[in-house]
Amino acid sequence: MKKILLIVSGGIAAYRSLDLIREIKRRGDDVTCVLTKSATKFVQPLSFASLSQNKVYTDLFDIENESKIGHIKLSRDADLIVLAPATANILAKMVHGISDSLATSILLANNKPLLIAPSMNVKMWNNPATIENIKSLKNNGHIFVGPDDGEMACGEVGSGKMSKVEEIYKEISYLINSAPLKGKKALVTSGPTIEPIDPVRFISNRSSGKQGHAIASLLSKLGAETHLITGPVNIPYPDNVKVTEINTANEMLNACMSSLPVDISIFAAAVSDWKVVNQSSKKIKKSKNKNNDMNILLEQNPDILKTISENNKNRPELVVGFTLETENLIKSARSKMIKKSCDWIIANNHIQNNESVFDNDMNEVSFLTNKLEENWGLISKKNVAEKLCSKIIDYFDNAA
Ligand code: C5P
Repeated sequence: MKKILLIVSGGIAAYRSLDLIREIKRRGDDVTCVLTKSATKFVQPLSFASLSQNKVYTDLFDIENESKIGHIKLSRDADLIVLAPATANILAKMVHGISDSLATSILLANNKPLLIAPSMNVKMWNNPATIENIKSLKNNGHIFVGPDDGEMACGEVGSGKMSKVEEIYKEISYLINSAPLKGKKALVTSGPTIEPIDPVRFISNRSSGKQGHAIASLLSKLGAETHLITGPVNIPYPDNVKVTEINTANEMLNACMSSLPVDISIFAAAVSDWKVVNQSSKKIKKSKNKNNDMNILLEQNPDILKTISENNKNRPELVVGFTLETENLIKSARSKMIKKSCDWIIANNHIQNNESVFDNDMNEVSFLTNKLEENWGLISKKNVAEKLCSKIIDYFDNAA
């Protein structure tokens, strides 16, 4: 049984922390709650005491408690501190080392891992002051979950909603349970590659990087030392992951080769199959050709997955590919797995529920090995990462 100290600051999402207490208790862990003064305007300490079955703390100057230096003891007794919801105000106080309440004093004196679930209005979340504060707290090693996008209590829409209880609990479980992939090294490719035609034009593949980034993020949470090699994307990089940015397939291949040896390699990037042979160092003029047309000669890029998989000297123990096809998905995925010598392949459906997979949070996939074919159905890209990582954990458990 692990001990969690839950600090609740004064936001409308404070009532949702009651469900978080239920979830922590349901999983068999112990939770003690600290409420800020503003939190007590939104929720009753009695509800927190009843659900946690522990005393609830609110006051820094509680004589009985402070005679035992309560704000120090509360963090020393815990395995993990969770700040949920975390308002813009308490985050700003943390950055500046302000300790004007029991909650902020615990946070300042804390020597335990801290998980933060922000909740605030979208303008507050996007305010440059908050952005700087989050950056500084992340640099100090604190772990964030959320916030989610959606409609807020104030009626505005955007990023700032406290994450769902299940998501917060998942992060708690990664932090309190022993990391199953500790000691393993992982390499993940993600996003598209871009192949220049001239200094301003390029050919590329459609890819948001969401799937590869979700996998890299989870591998790192599960303890693997993770290296993400990514083409240009518009999504944030996962925390605690080494990131190498590349543009072309050749650059991606070189970055992958330099990352070896690794135990786990996941190739989720949408690598451009071709590159331009006669790349121009100057912008190509439209008027160059009388017919107003233009020819580009393409040659094949190296296959990164195949090169790494067939690299006898430093082959990763586990090589996983992805493939997306518009027809005969499973059949061609299986033959690709053999052709590219990878151990597992995940076959992506191109269209799911009439929507394209690109830039979508959902993915419809099948998981294939030489013995197995599992259809995982239409699930979120985060769920695909979870299912894949649990296969990876099982693989290393069975190998041990
Ligand atoms: O052949 P196809 O592009 O469908 O193969 C997809 C798989 O191969 C993906 O895992 C992708 O990351 C990888 N790949 C690669 N290098 C290429 C082309 C694809 O690593 N040049």
